[in-house]
Amino acid sequence: MGIILAIESSCDDTSASVLIDGKVCSNVISSQPIHSLHGGVVPELASRDHQKNIMVVVNQALAQANVEVHNLSAVAFTRGPGLLGSLLVGISFAKGLALSLKIPLIEVDHLQAHMLAHFIDEPKPAFPFLCLLVSGGHTQIVELTGHQSQKLLGKTIDDAAGEAFDKGAKILGLPYPGGPIIDKLAKEGDPHRFKFNFPQVEGYGYSFSGLKTALLYFLRDELKTNQEFIQKNLNDLCASWQYTIVEYLMQKFERAIIDSGAKHAGIAGGVAANSYLRSRLFELSQKLGIEVYIPKFEYCLDNAAMIAQAAWYKFENKEFVGLDAVPFTRQ
Ligand code: KG4
Ligand code: ZN
Repeated sequence: MGIILAIESSCDDTSASVLIDGKVCSNVISSQPIHSLHGGVVPELASRDHQKNIMVVVNQALAQANVEVHNLSAVAFTRGPGLLGSLLVGISFAKGLALSLKIPLIEVDHLQAHMLAHFIDEPKPAFPFLCLLVSGGHTQIVELTGHQSQKLLGKTIDDAAGEAFDKGAKILGLPYPGGPIIDKLAKEGDPHRFKFNFPQVEGYGYSFSGLKTALLYFLRDELKTNQEFIQKNLNDLCASWQYTIVEYLMQKFERAIIDSGAKHAGIAGGVAANSYLRSRLFELSQKLGIEVYIPKFEYCLDNAAMIAQAAWYKFENKEFVGLDAVPFTRQ
C-alpha cells in the first residue's frame, strides 16, 4: 500500500503523476511550445520552463488524484537519460519534497519507464516481452524478462528514429516536432514514390544519420532543376520518408521477435504514436500469431505516469535512494 508522486522533466515536457496502490490516478503534462520556434529543443529554455511549470503541474496531479501532499508515501523522479538542466529541476524538486515530508525518494530510468508504460493499463503483456523503444533520443530493441529485468538486443549507433522524423521534417521546411506533421501529411502521399536504401548495421542495430544525409542530397539535386520540388511533392516526400523509417524499424524488430521466440511484443516511446508504425505492428501480429501492445497515446509521449509505474515496482522492493542522487545525461 502506498501513494507515489512521480515527476518527469528529462526533456521538454513537465509532467507529474500520482499512483495509489499500483494504480495511476492522474497524469498531468505541460508541453513547451517555445521550442517549435527554434526547430528543436533548446536546453536552457527547457529548464527555465520546467522551473516555471513544475509547481502548477504537481498541484494539478495531486488535486486530480484527490490526494493531499502530506499523505504521500514516496516521491519518484526521472534520473536520466535526458538534458542535465531539465533533469536537475525535477530531481531538486523531488529531493526538497521528500526531505520536507520525510518520505523516501525513488529514482527511475527514463527508458525503462517508457517500456513499463505497457503495464499501466490492461491488458498487460506477459514475459518474455519484446519492446521496440522509439523516441526522440533513443531507438532500441529490448527483451523484458520481468518488470525490472531486461536485455538490450540492439540499438541505434547514431541518431534515433524520432530524430530521423524531426530532422527530415526540418529539411522539408516543416516545424518541430516533425513526427506528428509527417504522419499527417503522409496520409495523403504515395509511400513508394521516392526510395531510400536501408543503412546496413549488424544484428538488431540501427543507423539513421546516413538516411538523413541521403534525403538532404536527394533534395539538393532535385532543387537544382526545380525550385518548387519540395512544395509540389510534400505529401509524397513525407509518405516515402515515413515508409523508409518504419519499414527499417520493423524489418529488424520482426527478426528479433522471430529469433527470440517471444509471443508478446510492443512499441513504446514518442514514435509509437506514429499511425503507420502502429498499423504495421498489427499486421505483424497477424503474420506471426503474436499478441501486440501499444500504450495509450498519453503514455507513449514523455509523461510521469510511466515514471510512477516504474517507481511502484521499486517501492514494493524498498529500492530507495539518498539525497546524494545525481542525474545522468547519457545511457
Ligand atoms: O518519447 P518522446 O516524447 O521524447 C523523448 O524521450 O525523446 O518522443 C518524442 C519524439 C519526437 O522525435 C517526435 O517527432 C516523435 O516522438 N513523434 C512521432 C509522432 N509523434 C511524436 N514520430 C512519428 N509519428 C508521430 N505521430
Ligand atoms: Zn522519452
